[in-house]
Amino acid sequence: MKIGILGAGSIGSTLAQKLAEAGHQVKVANSRGPETIDETVLATGATAVEASDVVQDVDVLVTSIPLARMAGIRPLLEELSADAVVIDTSNYYPLRDGHIEALDGGQVEGLWVSEQIGRPVVKAWNAILSGTFEAKGRPAGQAGRLAIPVAGDDEVGKRAAISLVEDTGFDTVDAGTLSESWRQQPGAPAYCTELTQEELPAALARAQKDLLAGRRDRVMATIGDTFGSLTSDDIAALNRATYA
Ligand SMILES: NC(=O)c1ccc[n+]([C@@H]2O[C@H](COP(=O)([O-])OP(=O)(O)OC[C@H]3O[C@@H](n4cnc5c(N)ncnc54)[C@H](OP(=O)(O)O)[C@@H]3O)[C@@H](O)[C@H]2O)c1
Repeated sequence: MKIGILGAGSIGSTLAQKLAEAGHQVKVANSRGPETIDETVLATGATAVEASDVVQDVDVLVTSIPLARMAGIRPLLEELSADAVVIDTSNYYPLRDGHIEALDGGQVEGLWVSEQIGRPVVKAWNAILSGTFEAKGRPAGQAGRLAIPVAGDDEVGKRAAISLVEDTGFDTVDAGTLSESWRQQPGAPAYCTELTQEELPAALARAQKDLLAGRRDRVMATIGDTFGSLTSDDIAALNRATYA
């Protein structure tokens, strides 16, 4: 597939490496220009481009930028072919994104993103820590392979996302429509807790919407200033204990 990735941070850079390694034609962009993208991101064959180019001639665009920046990319998305699938990795963290009234009021994050950019999105790779994503991918069929939930309204888009997630070394679970995707938001039992395909459906099912924000904020308060010194194993363990 021809894939554009907007965002070359913790998640976008690993996505570019893995999807290019899997044989896809990958372009990646950030906000500052291709010369600022690290060579290691391009080591498996991805090409660094301007953001204006990353939306041209692609089958899939993955948006992997801070959620508060979503409204700003709307003009870019207007350049994207109507047939292209948009897969979004973003999550709402008021500490990073500032308070957004609609989301504080309970609007589903994926629906809000969709409104901001003016396109339907499939939600994938949002519920895996960047350290887990980088280090714990496994070939299909290997015991203990972790799973990632995928939610969206368009079956074609969802199938594309499921196939790409598998290419990055993870099983998938169909988590339903975008309006149900709150089950994979921060604070939910399925969010960044390193579960397998057998374990994930029950975690999605036991999510309680009214508990998400409080649990998300409790984890952020616990992590506090120690964030940089914690491994993804530490954070996954904290998530499991808090979000269960
Ligand atoms: N980190 C995780 O463990 C994790 C896990 C799952 C999901 N997520 C979610 O995935 C998204 C990305 O997370 P991250 O940790 O990869 O973020 P990050 O490390 O902060 O990287 C953000 C990237 O987005 C780019 N960017 C920001 N605004 C842009 C714009 N207007 N146009 C083009 N590029 C833009 C930045 O480029 P510049 O540096 O050039 O501005 C940077 O490359 C977030 O919504 C996050 O919540 C994160």
